[in-house]
Amino acid sequence: MTVLPEKTNWLNNPDIQPYFFVRKENRRNEPGAYLKDCDWFKDKEVLQREPLSMKEEGFARLIMEVEGRAFQQSGMPMPGWVFYDCGLIPGIVTGFAYRTSKLPTHLREVIGEKFLTTEWTPLSLFIAIPCANRREWVAHNLSSINSLIPKEHRFYGMGFLSKAFGLWYSNIEVLCGMTQWESPALKLHANYGDFELLTAYTPVHSHPRTMTYKCQINFKSWEKFFLREENENFENRFKEAGFKVNPKDRESLIYLQTKLEYHRVENQGSALFLKPDELRYGEIGDPLNVYQRIEES
Ligand SMILES: CC(C)(COP(=O)(O)OP(=O)(O)OC[C@H]1O[C@@H](n2cnc3c(N)ncnc32)[C@H](O)[C@@H]1OP(=O)(O)O)[C@@H](O)C(=O)NCCC(=O)NCCS
Repeated sequence: MTVLPEKTNWLNNPDIQPYFFVRKENRRNEPGAYLKDCDWFKDKEVLQREPLSMKEEGFARLIMEVEGRAFQQSGMPMPGWVFYDCGLIPGIVTGFAYRTSKLPTHLREVIGEKFLTTEWTPLSLFIAIPCANRREWVAHNLSSINSLIPKEHRFYGMGFLSKAFGLWYSNIEVLCGMTQWESPALKLHANYGDFELLTAYTPVHSHPRTMTYKCQINFKSWEKFFLREENENFENRFKEAGFKVNPKDRESLIYLQTKLEYHRVENQGSALFLKPDELRYGEIGDPLNVYQRIEES
């Protein structure tokens, strides 16, 4: 039994439940079979929604409304066709929802009365899509209402737990993802397991200063995140690769990219990682050490 901090007590509220907005054919077998030690969601009643039904239009529109506002600042809100073509049809779309009749007034005001037409109101979103190699998934979207509300009303950990729920429920073992180097979301993404870099500079992306990461999902890292403890054994398993990356410096990202390509494209050198704790506790945008596995050196 793992204890989450008191600040995450909203998770015990029966009027807040995880939703799973996934085509019947894409529903998952044996939820939680991979991360057996995680007991955080076992008492939740998962709201199964069917994206092919017209009845769900209001719920889907509300997800996009909250997501659109959360991403407004970064200029990357998700168009409806991306939500449908890349999320609802191939992948899993999940998050937490509040029973609309019980929504506190301040949330009703933030979201807007005119949008509150459905029995449940989505507050967060995590989308993951399976990769062609079947073993890996890609994290396609993460957002939470916390980014839109004042600190005193926030649901602590909602972003982290939305992604955690989706990974746990769907038995995802290896997850790739794309994030901008200066996004605060990195504080979360780097803490689901060992955080390997696949790209550091990604010119084909609309935002070239995007990293691509790959993560072996590990529940121990999730516990450390909430306990605010150092990840165990990092120093025994990883050593500094001998250089740092400066997320604010394009040349530094390109230098790291050449090192990554040396490994990934030319099959030389070693895989490179960031240290979860440096991202979690450091300032976003500050230079970071780059690591490699000790057994690979
Ligand atoms: C990124 C996002 C999903 C995080 O969700 P959240 O519900 O706010 O975050 P959580 O409550 O799970 O955060 C847990 C930790 O991350 C920290 N964190 C979250 N957002 C942060 C921010 N903008 N700046 C600094 N730290 C942040 C929290 O302070 C907390 O750390 P603490 O324990 O040290 O206090 C949310 O802010 C969001 O929707 N952002 C806009 C969309 C976006 O950028 N998505 C990510 C795309 S890759």
